[in-house]
Amino acid sequence: MNVSMIVAMSENRVIGSNNAMPWYLPEDLKKFRELTTGHAILMGRKTFESLPKVLPGREHYVVTGNSDYKKTNERASGSEHVFTAPDPVAALDLIADRITTSGDIPDEVFVIGGGELFEQLLPYTERVYVTLIRKEMSGDTFFPELSLEDWVQTSSEGFDGFDFLIYDRSTSIC
Ligand SMILES: NC(=O)c1ccc[n+]([C@@H]2O[C@H](COP(=O)([O-])OP(=O)(O)OC[C@H]3O[C@@H](n4cnc5c(N)ncnc54)[C@H](OP(=O)(O)O)[C@@H]3O)[C@@H](O)[C@H]2O)c1
Repeated sequence: MNVSMIVAMSENRVIGSNNAMPWYLPEDLKKFRELTTGHAILMGRKTFESLPKVLPGREHYVVTGNSDYKKTNERASGSEHVFTAPDPVAALDLIADRITTSGDIPDEVFVIGGGELFEQLLPYTERVYVTLIRKEMSGDTFFPELSLEDWVQTSSEGFDGFDFLIYDRSTSIC
């Protein structure tokens, strides 16, 4: 299994404000849909609750310390495509098993946020897809710094006001 992250952030690394994304960028949403559809997506409980709905065509793995969450949260209990895990690494183990047994879920799993999950899972991540919004923004949640020692930019597409970038890990995961 390969772990990738997908994030939209401002130049000062802001990814969220008041449990929402502080911009509306349809091109980013389209890119997100194209890249993640069919794959397992892994997220923190707050990000799950910030989604407009359970996203079609994707199994959702939600990390929460609340062991009753799947039973008690209406959206989670109402979907057979939502699973919970007690911590981020347990979620990776669950997804790895699922990929092995299902035969039809691709090997690339996407960590989709938010700040807490990005921070904790960066050491397990091989690739980061970034939509970089060419602005400084204010917010309360940030994407961690990618050190130039460990990461190399392997792709860049420029658009009006934003770029799609890919970073790949240049050092092996220990
Ligand atoms: N720009 C982007 O690409 C992007 C993408 C996604 C999200 N966002 C933004 O990011 C913000 C949300 O991020 P966030 O950092 O506040 O929250 P988050 O990472 O989405 O979720 C945090 C929650 O995950 C659970 N969790 C995290 N680490 C855990 C651990 N080690 N063990 C057990 N549970 C754990 C906890 O849930 P419990 O409290 O239930 O225990 C915790 O409260 C929002 O503003 C959202 O819009 C932006």
